Amino acid sequence: MTGTAVITGAAEGIGRAIAEEAAARGMRLVLADIDALRLEATVAALRAAGAEIEGLRTDVSKAAEVDALAAFAFSRFGGVRLLVANAGVACAKPVWETTPGDWEWVMGVNLYGVTNALRAFLPRMLASGEPGHVSATASMAGLLSLPSMAAYNASKHAVVTVMEGLHHDLTVRGAKIGASVLCPGWVRTRIALSERNRTAGEVTRPEALDPVAQKMVGAVHQAVSQGIEPRDAAKALFTAIDEKRFYVLTHANSRSGVKSRLEDILADRVPTLVRL
Ligand SMILES: NC(=O)c1ccc[n+]([C@@H]2O[C@H](COP(=O)([O-])OP(=O)(O)OC[C@H]3O[C@@H](n4cnc5c(N)ncnc54)[C@H](O)[C@@H]3O)[C@@H](O)[C@H]2O)c1
Repeated sequence: MTGTAVITGAAEGIGRAIAEEAAARGMRLVLADIDALRLEATVAALRAAGAEIEGLRTDVSKAAEVDALAAFAFSRFGGVRLLVANAGVACAKPVWETTPGDWEWVMGVNLYGVTNALRAFLPRMLASGEPGHVSATASMAGLLSLPSMAAYNASKHAVVTVMEGLHHDLTVRGAKIGASVLCPGWVRTRIALSERNRTAGEVTRPEALDPVAQKMVGAVHQAVSQGIEPRDAAKALFTAIDEKRFYVLTHANSRSGVKSRLEDILADRVPTLVRL
């Protein structure tokens, strides 16, 4: 794939790895992130490595900022071939401890960050008549219901269903734009420290969580630190796009968890606790 790729949440982690993979494939890049300093450093590093690249500080939960990102990308490079709505944040709490501010922040970034991008970019991508692709980063938490992750699970399930619906909307119109959803298992990034970029509600005091939730938070930190490298998730995404696959799972054992959830539903069983 050549042309311009726009990637949100691209200053570090999986988004940066997707940008590096796109650059390696010769794509021009527009990177967006809420963290202006880290974004600047990532753009400088990729430019030094030879990429044709721009960065724009963007809070994806704000529709007007995502509109400005789209206007910038189309005016700078004339078209967009690949959109990856990747920015996301995690909040580890059971539902009864999840505050209105937690919901606003997590849904704002994880769900509206995706829907803002689809609304801002797709009309022009479709009108161009050129082939293209849109992907969103959900999670295995979009296919399973992890304990102590209420808002995160809800936001990622929402992203999966939005992208499935989008696939149908594009297909029934015979559009040349493909869609996919990236559902990583644990990836070694700073996702467990998401509150560093928090934009809504009160920052969580981990010591205020109940002991079970505190243990879960510790387990999430450990699982993330032992996760796959971001570049492996990025490679999985591009391989899936090349092979026209929709659901992009990054871990060999992910499918058994999904199968067990669907079997529980069909067999009218209570949900099995799946460990990733
Ligand atoms: N790391 C994992 O184990 C894992 C697993 C499944 C899914 N994911 C998903 O992968 C995506 C990328 O996360 P990551 O693991 O690379 O984490 P990360 O924290 O390393 O990177 C996330 C990036 O998003 C940016 N960001 C945060 N809020 C933003 C906002 N409002 N607007 C724009 N940018 C914002 C951050 O500054 C950061 O650069 C997220 O959607 C996350 O939910 C991660």
